[in-house]
Amino acid sequence: MLKQLALVLLLCGVALAGQSYDGYKIYDVQARNSFEKQLLLRLSQNDAYDFFDLPRSLDASSRVMVKPEDQEGFEILLQKHNVDFVVTDENLGESLRLTHEDNQKQRLMNLRSTGRSISFTAFHRHAEINAYLDELAAAYPSRVKVEVAGKSYEKRDIKTITISNGDGKTGKKVIFLDAGIHAREWIAHAGALYVIHQLVENFAANSDLLKDFDWVILPVVNPDGYEYTHTTTRLWRKTRKPISSSCYGTDANRNFDFHWGEVGASSYSCSDTFKGETAFSEPETQILRDLLLDLTGRGKFYLTLHSYGNYLLYPWGYTSALPSTWRDIDEVAQAGAAAIKSATGTKYTVGSSTNVLYAAAGGSDDYAFGVANFPVSITMELPAGGTGFNPSASQIQGFVSETWLGIQAMAKLVVQKY
Ligand code: ARG
Ligand code: ZN
Repeated sequence: MLKQLALVLLLCGVALAGQSYDGYKIYDVQARNSFEKQLLLRLSQNDAYDFFDLPRSLDASSRVMVKPEDQEGFEILLQKHNVDFVVTDENLGESLRLTHEDNQKQRLMNLRSTGRSISFTAFHRHAEINAYLDELAAAYPSRVKVEVAGKSYEKRDIKTITISNGDGKTGKKVIFLDAGIHAREWIAHAGALYVIHQLVENFAANSDLLKDFDWVILPVVNPDGYEYTHTTTRLWRKTRKPISSSCYGTDANRNFDFHWGEVGASSYSCSDTFKGETAFSEPETQILRDLLLDLTGRGKFYLTLHSYGNYLLYPWGYTSALPSTWRDIDEVAQAGAAAIKSATGTKYTVGSSTNVLYAAAGGSDDYAFGVANFPVSITMELPAGGTGFNPSASQIQGFVSETWLGIQAMAKLVVQKY
């Protein structure tokens, strides 16, 4: 009886603590020729190996997470084919525990010392982010409007903040920014919050970006996934709507109805790149779609923040062909990369998604460009922290301020030219 109770408690404890990643290793694998690249590509199709980045044509190094029971087989396989690898993290579980404890400390300290909902010294929960938006709306009523665009599958409020210069003019051109399509890419959410902070709380320095343009910012596209990465599974990527008896979630960035499912997306509901049962099967992608379509004509620049890899990507993601206006988009992206390079030395790769990263259809960037007619549409992949998706709290400020310099440079060019 007592034993049973202990077992139940133990199981509950495990369930509450979520996935621990104890003993998970992170490998960096270096493919040196096309045979080795092919091998990696094949391995990336095996669910036992979680590739953080797919092997690409340009730079062939790949980061792979492997759970304890699969590590021996993985290493033997690589050794057999003479593929070089290094273990970048011996125990991801331990690393995540340490960054989590530190983040909790920083979060509470922030709340106690500033009384404000968010900071750039910690990663914050969805409720704190929404509270920040409401605080800004209350403090700057003439320049800020916060709206609930809709509800996530788990009924969380998905809020947008519309930032203007308060001159009362309506129907201005729009820069639309979002983040958090993918749950685990926390630095992206933080990056969007920093843009909001700059445009609202540092308005005087940025008023040129708000003269003929309003900004509409959706800092957390996928709040269910985001909360799940805080409470349960740190490396969750997708939404959270159940699909089959055992698998949850759709890759929101494969769910947009533009060449949906044609390439680089999975039909298997357990896959991290599951395209969804239909295009726009998710409430979260429907909400983003409707916001973008409502801005057709006014929307000039669509920017979506992801991590990681230091890329500025533009259409198309579904084909290696380039849109006829690619040079115009390239110019904007290059301006962002150059601003970052000269400020901090950080290098970004600029190009079309398919050509510099991989082909993947159903992305929000292709949709904004191809359907909602945003003439400039860019996916920005912020830098890696920790082993990729887990920057420490102390890295946030550096990353987001650097990212802002790039965004500022891109926006400057857009307001000049469009
Ligand atoms: N890492 C992003 C993803 O896999 C890149 C998206 C680029 N855009 C695209 N339409 N494929 O979702
Ligand atoms: Zn992403």
